Amino acid sequence: MMTKKYSIERLISAKSIAARVESLAQEISSFYADSEKLIVVGLLRGSFIFIADLVRELDLPLEVDFLEVSSYGDGMESSREVRILKDLRGEIEGRDVLIIEDIVDTGYTMHNVLAFLESRHPKNIEVCALLDKPSRREVEVSMRWVGFEIPDEFVVGYGIDYAQRNRNLSYIGKVTLLK
Ligand code: IMP
Ligand code: MG
Repeated sequence: MMTKKYSIERLISAKSIAARVESLAQEISSFYADSEKLIVVGLLRGSFIFIADLVRELDLPLEVDFLEVSSYGDGMESSREVRILKDLRGEIEGRDVLIIEDIVDTGYTMHNVLAFLESRHPKNIEVCALLDKPSRREVEVSMRWVGFEIPDEFVVGYGIDYAQRNRNLSYIGKVTLLK
């Protein structure tokens, strides 16, 4: 698909993200202090920078795994359906699982991912999302940790894309389509 021209305006600075990641990591480290079997699952591709920064701040024995599901294609609207494009490499039965996501928007992606992973009987599953757009929610999703609540804006950067572009921005920016 041809993407329209757009501008990007800074919404959350790299410095604010780093500070928030550090405090999230402290909360997560104390929550899992007694866990011997934590698996941190990153949802590809949007969470790749967040998970990299977060796990380096976690003072815990852990494993990292990745799951890739399809959601938006190249547009800005949710398809409300989720296909598994790449499954986990490891087993999660009986383990503590922490899902790392970039954004929870309508909630359909996380709702489906939780149902998919819960069917494998982990000991516990929690969600940590960098960004939450609560005003857009269509299905309820229980998230133990959220980095930032944001308004109903389309955002890019810090791993998050628009039609695969702008993942490499160090900050989170808001996209405005130009006429
Ligand atoms: P949901 O299923 O509607 O909650 O959508 C979640 C997925 O849509 C996230 O994993 C993101 O990849 C993508 N998404 C939602 N909002 C945005 C956005 O503002 N920018 C880029 N991707 C987004
Ligand atoms: Mg995503």
